[in-house]
Amino acid sequence: MNQPLAIDKRKTLLVPQGEFELHRNPRDDSLQAWDAADEFLLQHLHEIQLLTRHGKVLILNDAFGALALALADYPVYSWNDSLLAQQALRDNLLVNGYPVEQVKTNSGIDFPSVAVDNVLIKIPKTQALLEHQLYALRGILHHDSHVIAAGMARHIHHSTLELFESILGPTTTTRAFKKSRLILVERDHSMNEGQSPYPDSYELVVDRRYRIVNHASLFSRDRLDRGSRLLIEHMPVDAGYRRIVDLGCGNGVIGLIAAAMNPGAELTFCDESFMAIASAEANFRAAFAATRRAQFKVGDCLQGIAGLSQDLVLINPPFHQQHSVGDAVAWRMLKDARRVLVDGGELRLVGNRHLGYHAKLKKLFGNCETIASGKKYLVLRALKRADSE
Ligand SMILES: C[S@@+](CC[C@H](N)C(=O)[O-])C[C@H]1O[C@@H](n2cnc3c(N)ncnc32)[C@H](O)[C@@H]1O
Repeated sequence: MNQPLAIDKRKTLLVPQGEFELHRNPRDDSLQAWDAADEFLLQHLHEIQLLTRHGKVLILNDAFGALALALADYPVYSWNDSLLAQQALRDNLLVNGYPVEQVKTNSGIDFPSVAVDNVLIKIPKTQALLEHQLYALRGILHHDSHVIAAGMARHIHHSTLELFESILGPTTTTRAFKKSRLILVERDHSMNEGQSPYPDSYELVVDRRYRIVNHASLFSRDRLDRGSRLLIEHMPVDAGYRRIVDLGCGNGVIGLIAAAMNPGAELTFCDESFMAIASAEANFRAAFAATRRAQFKVGDCLQGIAGLSQDLVLINPPFHQQHSVGDAVAWRMLKDARRVLVDGGELRLVGNRHLGYHAKLKKLFGNCETIASGKKYLVLRALKRADSE
């Protein structure tokens, strides 16, 4: 007798639009690649029969592509600041038999400029990003457009609803489903005052004054992070390093100071966020104009950078991916740093002292030295030796 096919519930999204295999990026099938808010939104769309064959759908902040994949038979444009999220969508389209071009995606920070009929928003971790997106929507919503947002109830605060109310118009929320909620927005076209305050900026004084520009999604957008400050204060100076990478560069503040302290070096800035790379590039150009060469790469860790090619890698590792916390990305960054370093090259990082980077570096590089120790943060350095692991 044939055995019934076992459905792996962690990988199979079952919604009224169909059954889809869905994975995270980086792949980790012990964790589900969607949440109850995705299911709730897809169920709701099915019940109200809102989407039509030709109506343009804009999806914002879809973490691993659950929404865009389930709605891929409609004309969908998926905007995401995260390249990892976009790669997840592409992989998930392919796994489910769609070509990657089935869903249009952004390749920079710009929003689509054409009018859209339906906008579906997953509430992002950074409220500033949501604020920026709501202002951008004003320009592309027409009189019959619908806006529906979805999120886990713990990510929807009073201030979140106020943003919708004050930028777009009257807003209501639904009952909860598995601790998630929908936000239904009615666009009031008479509300047009104000504009996105992003990118914004702050002044940083180190060897000179810098104005640090930050797009909406950025880490530590309004001031220098204390960890980054400790690393900047313990930057190698005139160390003879010719090729330096700022990995997970955010606004590029670490690489910027590395460039100032090492005038002969060529810098590479890497981040998986489009807004981070746009900010880092603006900040570097403002500081050095055309006098210094640098590369700016949107990529997963050090994707696209050759092995054995860099003298120094600087990192202030992330501890979040979207709404989840963990050190998996940091660990991948350390391994990739080791790959690109020349023999004798250095990895210098700042990390929260409780996160155990010392042990990780020792394991990976066979050595680790504490360069500075603050209340909360440590600056550590590891040297790549030809004979280490
Ligand atoms: C703690 S922030 C540090 C930002 C900046 N270096 C600073 O010190 O202000 C970590 C950065 O890592 C980036 N990041 C997260 N995952 C990444 C990945 N897989 N590849 C590249 N960058 C990543 C985030 O977008 C974020 O900008």
